[in-house]
Amino acid sequence: MRLILTDDYEALSRLGADLIAAFVADQPTATVVLATGNTPMGAYRELAARRGEGNFDATKLRVCQLDEYLGLTDDDDRSLYGWMDRSFLQPQSVPDENVLRLTANDSDPDAACRTYDETLATAGGYDLSVLGLGPNGHIAFNEPPAQNDSPTRVVTLSEESLDSNAAYWGGRDRVPLRAVTAGLAQLLAARQTILLVSGAHKRDVLGKVLYGPVTPDLPASYLQLAQNVTVIADRAAAPLYVLGVDGGNTKTIALVATLDGTVIGTGRGGCGDIYGAGSAQAGLSSIYDAVDSALSSAGITADRLTAACFSLAGADWPEDFQFLETELRAHGYDGKIKIVNDAIGALRSGCTNGWGVGVACGTGCATSAIAADGKAWHASFWQNGGGAAGLGYTALRAVFDAELGLVPPTALTAALLPFFQQPNVEELLHQFTRRGGTAPGKVDQLAPTVLDVAAAGDAVAVRLIKEQGALMGDYALAAARKVGIEADAYELVLTGSVFRHSSPLLVDAIVARVQSKSPAAVPVQSNNEPVFGAVLMAMELANVPVDRSIRDQLRATIPGAEFFATHPDAKS
Ligand code: PGA
Repeated sequence: MRLILTDDYEALSRLGADLIAAFVADQPTATVVLATGNTPMGAYRELAARRGEGNFDATKLRVCQLDEYLGLTDDDDRSLYGWMDRSFLQPQSVPDENVLRLTANDSDPDAACRTYDETLATAGGYDLSVLGLGPNGHIAFNEPPAQNDSPTRVVTLSEESLDSNAAYWGGRDRVPLRAVTAGLAQLLAARQTILLVSGAHKRDVLGKVLYGPVTPDLPASYLQLAQNVTVIADRAAAPLYVLGVDGGNTKTIALVATLDGTVIGTGRGGCGDIYGAGSAQAGLSSIYDAVDSALSSAGITADRLTAACFSLAGADWPEDFQFLETELRAHGYDGKIKIVNDAIGALRSGCTNGWGVGVACGTGCATSAIAADGKAWHASFWQNGGGAAGLGYTALRAVFDAELGLVPPTALTAALLPFFQQPNVEELLHQFTRRGGTAPGKVDQLAPTVLDVAAAGDAVAVRLIKEQGALMGDYALAAARKVGIEADAYELVLTGSVFRHSSPLLVDAIVARVQSKSPAAVPVQSNNEPVFGAVLMAMELANVPVDRSIRDQLRATIPGAEFFATHPDAKS
């Protein structure tokens, strides 16, 4: 089933009309079954307008009735046929002989139902079915429980249906107690189905139809097994949401997404690392800042979240996970929660099948691995060196060594002195080491300069990039070994700002080292933001299969790069 969410009922109606019109343009003589009820009326009005403009022609369709009350005369205005006639058949001038009716007359309804099914079978079944969803999970009047092989037949209306139809009849006691309905067997065999769902009162039932078990107690759930089903729901009916959070040392990002992968809320906070934020509470409050603003920009409260994944720097030891979970739950995120280290989130943001080895190269280097069976490991405190800081400090060291003649002269010297605004190497060393002094600049911000110098051919810079790449490659191999995938064709997912430099030297060095022991490893360079991985994991936690369309939708709706830029006020 494909779920498409629209902002409101008008947009739902336009999109429903678009899909119906595209279908009819393609198959003008198709057999279609059309629901009455309130939900499809906007789409039918839209189609009537398009007919007026010469953009829609239903006159060659065979139009079948979906359901009918029993015990009326066939020309009773209150019949569902009457409703269909006013809303679709007349505005579209569908000839009477093209309409396959259900009987409203209770003289021999069983025989009439059999005739309907025979006529339908001769026509080859429904090509297109346009349905609404009952509050009790019915489609047509297939009231629960309904088996998936039930034919067109007489049914007794459920209490819920009597309630929801009371308004149309001017009182519950006036609603006919029996009805005829197109069979589930016939509806589920339709070659294409469009299910239209609008309004907050349908939210819970839609959630079950989409993601709950397939059961006779919820007849619409059988649509999960039918071919080519598109569910169009407006935001009010959108059942639930997921939250993905990426908490790092410079910033914390939170995104709220609908279950089709549309990002509808964003928030930012400062350092969300319970080790790096000064205190664990300070880290938590950055996370709350980001999440609370993402929820408020989405216009929802935390109780609408069906799943949340927190991908956090500083989620390292068992007590960290325990602490974070207790605190987050106490703060009100009480649905399904998953907490992972941010190295895992970064890997998930870039791997295609949910497993592989990740090297995230930002200020530091974060290495992780996930096996196909879900076993995961991240290096965290095991890891020493790598990342932009590793490149910066080794470059600085090379400049000092070159000054002493321990290594050959290097163009790094001429590049680093202006970077730190120092006149010579001795003064540079002095500034870094003098009593009571502070570093004259941020060493981890040197990485692009070091890569530039190496790309221009400087032998010392090239050597140190290769060494740093080999070091990061070794940690990647260690991670692969930890989860037992070293011999497999795993994706080696490279994320983070350092890899975005135009020189391939660092990437090549990492890949060469990894492939020396894991020859089948496939390097993947990803520009996805790490929070992307957290949202995907939240989707999985919500039992939503993460497919291509969800990834594409997330990519299309995730905020632009400026949203992720390091905040001037954030701790860097
Ligand atoms: P509604 O009815 O479109 O009026 O909500 C749907 C149904 O009960 O099938």
